[in-house]
Amino acid sequence: MKHAPQHRGCVMRRGMLSTRLFLILIGCCISVWYTDASELDVRLVGGDRCSGRVEVQHAGRWVGVCNHAWGVSDAHVVCRDLGCGLASSHGGVSDRLTGPPPLWLSHVKCVGNEARLKRCSHTFSRNCTNHTDVGVHCSRAPILTLPSSYNVFSAGEAVNFICTVLNGHKPVSFHLYKRGTGTPLVTQRVENGQKSVELTLSDLETSHQGSYSCVYSIWGNLLSQLHSSQSNSINIIVVDLHTPQIWYNTSQDTPAGWVFKGSSFNITCTTQPHYPGGSFQLRLIRPNGTVRHSLPALSSSVTFSFPSAQALNEGYYCCLYKVQLGERMFTSRESQPLPVSIRDTDPLLSPMVISLLVSAVTFVIATGIMLISFRMLCRRKKKLAELERESRTCEYSTNSAGRPVIPLPFHSLQCLRLTGVDNTYVVLTTIK
Ligand SMILES: *[C@@H]1O[C@H](CO)[C@@H](O)[C@H](O)[C@H]1NC(C)=O
Repeated sequence: MKHAPQHRGCVMRRGMLSTRLFLILIGCCISVWYTDASELDVRLVGGDRCSGRVEVQHAGRWVGVCNHAWGVSDAHVVCRDLGCGLASSHGGVSDRLTGPPPLWLSHVKCVGNEARLKRCSHTFSRNCTNHTDVGVHCSRAPILTLPSSYNVFSAGEAVNFICTVLNGHKPVSFHLYKRGTGTPLVTQRVENGQKSVELTLSDLETSHQGSYSCVYSIWGNLLSQLHSSQSNSINIIVVDLHTPQIWYNTSQDTPAGWVFKGSSFNITCTTQPHYPGGSFQLRLIRPNGTVRHSLPALSSSVTFSFPSAQALNEGYYCCLYKVQLGERMFTSRESQPLPVSIRDTDPLLSPMVISLLVSAVTFVIATGIMLISFRMLCRRKKKLAELERESRTCEYSTNSAGRPVIPLPFHSLQCLRLTGVDNTYVVLTTIK
């Protein structure tokens, strides 16, 4: 019981091992087939590069191809393999080899869309003769052209390619491929065997930069489409100029946007990416005209130096980036305007002096207010004290004279009012 799981594990491991061995074996077979196949090569003899008798390289020499089971699908693959479009005819050849080659490629069976003849199933045979050799006439690869005289484009633009089939076929569609991608970026169907078509790649981005080629396709067997070999390739460049940034610095500490007359200041323009041969243009907009300065963009930023600021340096500064690529001039948008105001360095007007003055005045006013309130407070206190003393005096005087007491508020007021006379007795008799 205890050993059973171990045993089962062992069986499983064995099973996995055999699966792995099987996979390795298959891998070996594939690689052997592949390696063997990669030794094969194909050529057309007795005509030109794209027509003639078919020969394949085998074990270091060229051998013929036997017409056993040879068909148009096989001929298409030969033409594609040679970069010659698709086959326009296939069959026997007039120009035959004289000496009997000992070996032929035989029973070639292509589906029609294989990239190389060597990918199709085949055998080798010694039972063929020079009269069974096959020949192929290819239509040649399509031709890709750019109607524009330039190949540098700005981001957002569209590029029109033209793909043309030279002869032989009635294409059903054309495809534009970017090198390194397996699926076409543009596909255009055509009617009535149109030989030439415009393939438009619109709204260009920098990722579209690269090498392009086109392919046409025709109807194959079973309503499948057969693709030709690729055309020549055309490289396009996509330029995306960003709006430059602008800022300034000055040798003196000033509020934003100020530069003191006579002091030095620098205006810096920067952008990404930059191209060889680019330049920065600095534009100063003033009420009485525009001034332009230009400096080559040796790096992604450039500094315009102004050693001594003058009134004529005042205005709004903008920068832009320009570059000539191919025969086209590309210009970025202008940066945000940067206002620069040239100020006199008069110390009376300098902000430090102004702030000192303001502080001093505030101090004086505050002190004055404090003094006045303090004095008012003192006087009030003193008056209250006096009032109390006087009223007491009044009451005392009244009482000592044996007269009836005067109601207090009135009495106090009288006393207060006549305190200045400094004679209580007189006051009281006056009231009576
Ligand atoms: C302006 O730039 C120059 C060199 O580019 C530098 O020597 C100078 O110190 C700069 N001046 C200021 C105010 O930053």
